[in-house]
Amino acid sequence: MWGRLWPLLLGVLAATAVPGPSLRRPSLELDATPRMTISYEELSGTRYFQAQAQNYSTLLLEEASARLLVGARGALFSLSAQDIGDGAHKEIHWEASPEMQSKCHQKGKNNLTECFNHVRFLQRLNATHLYACGTHAFQPLCAAIDAEAFTLPSSFEEGKEKCPYDPARGFTGLVIDGGLYTATRYEFRSIPDIRRSRHPHALRTEEAPVHWLNDAEFVFSVLVRESEASVVGDDDKVYYFFTERAAAEEGSSSFSPSRSSHRVARVARVCKGDLGGKKILQKKWTSFLKARLICHIPQYEKLRGVCSLDAERAAHTRFYAAFSLTTQWKTLEASAICRFDLAEVQAVFSGPYMEYQDGARRWGRYEGGVPEPRPGSCITDPLRSRGFNSSQDLPSLVLDFVKLHPLMARPVVPTRGRPLLLKRNVRYTHLTAIPVSTPAGLTYDLLFLGTADGWIHKAVVLGPGVHIIEETQVFREPQSVDNLVISPRQHSLYVGTPSGVIQLPLSTCFRYQSCYDCILARDPYCSWNPSNHSCVATTTTTANRTSLIQDIERGNRGCEGSSRTGPLPTLKTRSVLQGDNVLLPCDQPSNLARALWLLNGSRSLSDGQDGYRVGVDGLLVTDTQPEHSGSYGCFAEENGLRTLLASYSLTVRPATPAPAPQAPATKEARLAPDVKLLYVLAIAALGGLCLILAFSLLYVACLRRGGRGHRRKYSLGRAGRAGGSAVQLQTVSGQCPGEEDEGDEGEGAGGLEGSCLQIIPGEGAPAPPPPPPPPPPAELTNGLVALPSRLRRMNGSSYVLLRQSGDGVPTGPCSFAEELSRILEKRKHTQLVEQLDESAV
Ligand SMILES: *[C@@H]1O[C@H](CO)[C@@H](O)[C@H](O)[C@H]1NC(C)=O
Ligand SMILES: *[C@@H]1O[C@H](CO)[C@@H](O)[C@H](O)[C@H]1NC(C)=O
Ligand SMILES: *[C@@H]1O[C@H](CO)[C@@H](O)[C@H](O)[C@H]1NC(C)=O
Ligand SMILES: *[C@@H]1O[C@H](CO)[C@@H](O)[C@H](O)[C@H]1NC(C)=O
Ligand SMILES: *[C@@H]1O[C@H](CO)[C@@H](O)[C@H](O)[C@H]1NC(C)=O
Ligand SMILES: *[C@@H]1O[C@H](CO)[C@@H](O)[C@H](O)[C@H]1NC(C)=O
Ligand SMILES: *[C@@H]1O[C@H](CO)[C@@H](O)[C@H](O)[C@H]1NC(C)=O
Repeated sequence: MWGRLWPLLLGVLAATAVPGPSLRRPSLELDATPRMTISYEELSGTRYFQAQAQNYSTLLLEEASARLLVGARGALFSLSAQDIGDGAHKEIHWEASPEMQSKCHQKGKNNLTECFNHVRFLQRLNATHLYACGTHAFQPLCAAIDAEAFTLPSSFEEGKEKCPYDPARGFTGLVIDGGLYTATRYEFRSIPDIRRSRHPHALRTEEAPVHWLNDAEFVFSVLVRESEASVVGDDDKVYYFFTERAAAEEGSSSFSPSRSSHRVARVARVCKGDLGGKKILQKKWTSFLKARLICHIPQYEKLRGVCSLDAERAAHTRFYAAFSLTTQWKTLEASAICRFDLAEVQAVFSGPYMEYQDGARRWGRYEGGVPEPRPGSCITDPLRSRGFNSSQDLPSLVLDFVKLHPLMARPVVPTRGRPLLLKRNVRYTHLTAIPVSTPAGLTYDLLFLGTADGWIHKAVVLGPGVHIIEETQVFREPQSVDNLVISPRQHSLYVGTPSGVIQLPLSTCFRYQSCYDCILARDPYCSWNPSNHSCVATTTTTANRTSLIQDIERGNRGCEGSSRTGPLPTLKTRSVLQGDNVLLPCDQPSNLARALWLLNGSRSLSDGQDGYRVGVDGLLVTDTQPEHSGSYGCFAEENGLRTLLASYSLTVRPATPAPAPQAPATKEARLAPDVKLLYVLAIAALGGLCLILAFSLLYVACLRRGGRGHRRKYSLGRAGRAGGSAVQLQTVSGQCPGEEDEGDEGEGAGGLEGSCLQIIPGEGAPAPPPPPPPPPPAELTNGLVALPSRLRRMNGSSYVLLRQSGDGVPTGPCSFAEELSRILEKRKHTQLVEQLDESAV
């Protein structure tokens, strides 16, 4: 459905879009599927911190002292960066007094969400002190905190100039040489501004006659050390990223329903050495310039997160930004990631300006002469030599021009003119990045993207696109990722969310058990060590780096000569009665792999042929005949490599009844059909009731329906499933007319009517958590029903479909587990099978 809807949508978008800088490309080619899916239950090496407080959204990592400082609602914490959950944290309780809170409530603010002290600013001030600001029930306060003692000072500072009143407002702040550079919506009136305070020359933006900022929501700011290695004695600059209401000219994309609410992404910058003007632009920035930031117009205009890399070396500085789709259709979620190079931003800021044309009441490109020194530039050596020692020496002509021309004419376009990634069904809320150097001496940018529902995507940037190495569910309960911080020294990622802080390892290479697995992952942190046959983290290993095998670029080379590439799967035997349906489970650990089944080592089985159905979780053989006997090999085909995942020996026996009673208890007991029948008769004689045996189903992973209708499995990885067989007969029996037949191990029950199902938990399945129900299909406003964005599946469970209604011709979903879970879901509502319990037989 999505597969069809998406091009349709793009068509609509393209049709409604009025020309602008053209960055539209077919979106499908850019959509990347995360290779691995790691559900909450499969996390390893994670550490948690949680206290009484909420909203752990401000994080400050101090690598030198190995502390992670956290600003939350009503509290500050100092955690050990090695292990944030070690219990030895320090805490500052900092809440607004009840009087403050009730005053806030009287002013019409919500006393359940807004009238608290949300810590929004937390930075290192100097060698001994930290600086923190909180919203303090709509009366912001700041404090210099002794980092060692970690206690609040006896006196506070006014926070009006440094901190938003509203905790939900976008905010970004830096301490630079003791001065505070903050950008948010200030005061009760929520005025957007970029301000410098705690500085001999406090500055802000201009509001008349032109508002330099319109309804701006700030996302990120960074100091770029452009003075370093500058031949012209350039100044350091602070760059700001935000979304704001578009100037009239830019509403040209009629995509937005109402022109006035059309918002665009922006980048702005100021010079660190700006002192403001003397008469004109007194106490205002004289170096403020802003430009439009384009990722993939017209759909992606809302900036969600930005991060910078190499801000110390301006020649290499680059930014990564996450944008979200802006549509009228609220249910449609999608995100885009773009990379921007500082050089491009600089080029735009030295290009033509825009001008507000009073007559036409719109912004247009300024075509007149530009005064000297160039308006908005920083003070450089050539200017100093001409007597302009500071911004206060600039001529009035220049400052008047600055006042009226804050906007550049040309937009900033992404590297290579296109997004790195477009992703459906995801809203990225935050991102961070780190350059990782590999044993081969190359460096790759590794991105960590947080979603609105508590997942982290880890992606490596490869030229024009990204490869999503894995997606990790860091919270059982969906909640938005508010902050992400990387510590290379601790090899950790810290995630700030409403309910707590999580520490994750930057890589989990041990999950990859074969050489192929290790190189297919294309994780720059992971390499195959041929000397002891393990996938190791390159940053921590002591192995000879030159002998490590890795192929980030293509992800399929290097393992050919490796003597042992990984453990081989054990051969399993299956024996069924003629006419039964049997599933041979085989989970593809990678969402990018294609399942390939070979019979007797050569014949490739295709879906829908000779009673075979190939699914993402196994091979279903329907209406088995003696010709189906043979040995079956399940392979994963990915990126040109083929690896054996499972092998089965299947025997189909003629259906001849023969009595022999036996209890269906143990996992080893593989009942013969005759035994089964007798057992069934015994049960029938006893009660004539439908015996409901519980079964174990491990719905663990949430499968996200990728959208293109083809197999998009969200696998659970191989770990935890490798163990021995723990097969136990269990049956889901709803209103199954003939279910006396059920006492079978499952591979070969026959003669049932209706759609009875038998479930056999798979090999070495871990204890089952209660299955989360699949989300109800969302209704799009245009009347189309969306598929569940995430499909649930059972971990390692195999099952047999008995007499499916119809002739078993494959229709619809490719995942049998999915199909099964839907049937089960339906039953749960009508039957007493409430809890799927492994032990109940
Ligand atoms: C919030 O205000 C309501 C109405 O004035 C009051 O009943 C409630 O107790 C207040 N809640 C808190 C947490 O202060
Ligand atoms: C750091 O700043 C605090 C607060 O302004 C001040 O009390 C302290 O003396 C400063 N420390 C140093 C080493 O400058
Ligand atoms: C704080 O957390 C709650 C959930 O615990 C969330 O609803 C709220 O939006 C958060 N507030 C802010 C300002 O992030
Ligand atoms: C700029 O600084 C130089 C040297 O410090 C000084 O000689 C000159 O007078 C200054 N110019 C102005 C306009 O202040
Ligand atoms: C293999 O060797 C590397 C480097 O010596 C080591 O870090 C890793 O733990 C070893 N792995 C196993 C499974 O022994
Ligand atoms: C590392 O391995 C390479 C080739 O495999 C070899 O030439 C080199 O001497 C080794 N270095 C060390 C320190 O063992
Ligand atoms: C596969 O091999 C088995 C036993 O070797 C044989 O009985 C069966 O007929 C073969 N199947 C096919 C399709 O060749």
